[in-house]
Amino acid sequence: MQCVGEWAENDKHGYLRAYIEATREARRKFSESGFVDLFAGPGRVCVRERGEIFDGSPLLALAHDSAPFSRVVLCDLAQVNVDALRHRTARYGDRVEILHGDSNSRVHELVRLLPPGLNLVLVDPFGLAPLHFETLRILSQVEHLDLIVNFPTSDLRRNKDHYIDPTNEVVARALGVPGWRERLGPGDIALETASQFVDSLAGLGYTGTQNRMIPIMRAGSELYRLIFASKHPLGDRIWTSVTRHTPSGQLGFKY
Ligand SMILES: C[S@@+](CC[C@H](N)C(=O)[O-])C[C@H]1O[C@@H](n2cnc3c(N)ncnc32)[C@H](O)[C@@H]1O
Repeated sequence: MQCVGEWAENDKHGYLRAYIEATREARRKFSESGFVDLFAGPGRVCVRERGEIFDGSPLLALAHDSAPFSRVVLCDLAQVNVDALRHRTARYGDRVEILHGDSNSRVHELVRLLPPGLNLVLVDPFGLAPLHFETLRILSQVEHLDLIVNFPTSDLRRNKDHYIDPTNEVVARALGVPGWRERLGPGDIALETASQFVDSLAGLGYTGTQNRMIPIMRAGSELYRLIFASKHPLGDRIWTSVTRHTPSGQLGFKY
């Protein structure tokens, strides 16, 4: 189990659950549909503040049953998480494919496992290092593929001096922009790089008006930005409707 803050269940999982629910009619139009979790975790989370246990993103996607995903592809680097996923998803049979390893080096296999219908990819790393834009570029060649990306702005702020060092390649790899440092303005490094990331997504055809960012906050500080990207206007409209209110019922974010 991974211990997370309340925000993970309330915000990240809340938006994911709402988006999966709201896209059920769109999924029904296709004979097949897929959910891919590039950084899947063990399938369960424990909320630190309350000690309660909730489904992680893989089980949350599998639990949706009004327009179920015909294929759920999960990848994690840690053997212990892969073992937990195998155990926890066994009852879903061959709808589930679990890969052990670095999702960046296994992306071509992941693409081959996707059904030809509507696909949703969750990109949810702990920090910036495992986020490789090249992986998203390869995935973006699949037709009808939406992305929800956890872009770790707090990592960028915390490790700014490390990332700004010209020998460090983590940010360039995440954004797909080798000259990202030259493009930085005087503003906040995290927001400027997140905006370069959104521009890179636009270069892949993710030009929708809602390819923008929701700040996920805890106690007044920002943890990360949740970025949604779809090439289809319907995806944008649905994301707008699910973010009109936050998962806890508060008024959501104006784009
Ligand atoms: C934030 S957790 C995932 C949480 C999960 N998406 C959820 O919401 O329940 C990130 C996971 O990425 C895994 N990970 C780290 N680097 C990875 C890589 N290169 N490829 C695949 N998994 C990786 C870690 O083992 C960890 O379980």
